[in-house]
Amino acid sequence: MAAELSLIKPISKFPKFSSPRPSANFRSYISMSSAASTETKRPKKLAKTGIKETLLTPRFYTTDFDEMEMLFNSEINKNLNQAEFEALLQEFKTDYNQTHFVRNKEFKEAADKLNGPLRQIFVEFLERSCTAEFSGFLLYKELGRRLKKTNPVVAEIFSLMSRDEARHAGFLNKGLSDFNLALDLGFLTKARKYTFFKPKFIFYATYLSEKIGYWRYITIYRHLKENPEFQVYPIFKYFENWCQDENRHGDFFSALMKAQPQFLNDWKAKLWARFFCLSVYVTMYLNDCQRTAFYEGIGLDTKEFDMHVIIETNRTTARIFPAVLDVENPEFKRRLDRMVEINTELLAVGDTDDIALVKNLKRIPLIAALVSELLATYLMPPVEAGSVDIAEFEPQLVY
Ligand SMILES: [Fe+2]
Ligand SMILES: [Fe+2]
Repeated sequence: MAAELSLIKPISKFPKFSSPRPSANFRSYISMSSAASTETKRPKKLAKTGIKETLLTPRFYTTDFDEMEMLFNSEINKNLNQAEFEALLQEFKTDYNQTHFVRNKEFKEAADKLNGPLRQIFVEFLERSCTAEFSGFLLYKELGRRLKKTNPVVAEIFSLMSRDEARHAGFLNKGLSDFNLALDLGFLTKARKYTFFKPKFIFYATYLSEKIGYWRYITIYRHLKENPEFQVYPIFKYFENWCQDENRHGDFFSALMKAQPQFLNDWKAKLWARFFCLSVYVTMYLNDCQRTAFYEGIGLDTKEFDMHVIIETNRTTARIFPAVLDVENPEFKRRLDRMVEINTELLAVGDTDDIALVKNLKRIPLIAALVSELLATYLMPPVEAGSVDIAEFEPQLVY
């Protein structure tokens, strides 16, 4: 997984993971390591910094694993195209990026040259990306474990995808060590809250997250290839192969959804598909517009970059989702920009010295305005899409 999906939080309940236990207390989990610490050694906790937990912070996900087992039982579900999954498994086994994530001394040298606010914003980029990748690792690992008996092929693909995500998260965490920091992933596993999604929603959310991740990475990679003067940290050079992992993950979810046509072929699926598109796009846009210094630091215009990523992701998504948003309609961007303004005002309220009650009162009209923008965007005429042949599922007219 490579992107964040945080705005939506429909149901919260305890995860069914066997090992991680969530705790309501989210305390800081970044520990500053000594400069001499090695990657294998747990960093000494000299100082701790925390990430502000907000609606837009990357989340961890869990699902109904029993329902997942039912969905991938080939005796129950006759739509499962085992040949397609076998082919995908061979692709994952090839492990194209086995030797790709090898660091060199450029990393530390580049990190040492980053100073001031850009350094801070880089650290935040690494932390958030690492958390998002690690979130994918945990979910896929558990799915690989739980589906082993019902569908060993699908289970193995999940395990191999968790291998990829662990690699991505690990690489980002090593990047943090260039800044004398490390994410305590063990602590993170136990301490983060998990958001529960039914399998159908996991499919929509994860598919989008993988594809938007692909488009983000490839866009940054291509931009920096053309404008090497902005190549301020070598991690971006790895994005070309890296994003192919995310693309493959997305394609696997596409195959999973095709095997579950009930999630793609009715009016409810269309409404949910639009809802998830909206949530993912808005989350990214609001998050990135709070961090323009990062994108400007690598020579990108934040809003232009985001709109490019949204449009491309939406075009890709239209191949499988039954409906998508009309993101190429100028009204869509106008509404996103209005949401950014409201979000900025909301953040400003949080930064005042007012007492909590006054802050909350000030927030009410702003939240109402944000919800109304979200609703208006959601209700914009959608684009009918999808490649699943739904004709056979429609009632036949009888004369
Ligand atoms: Fe990833
Ligand atoms: Fe991924």
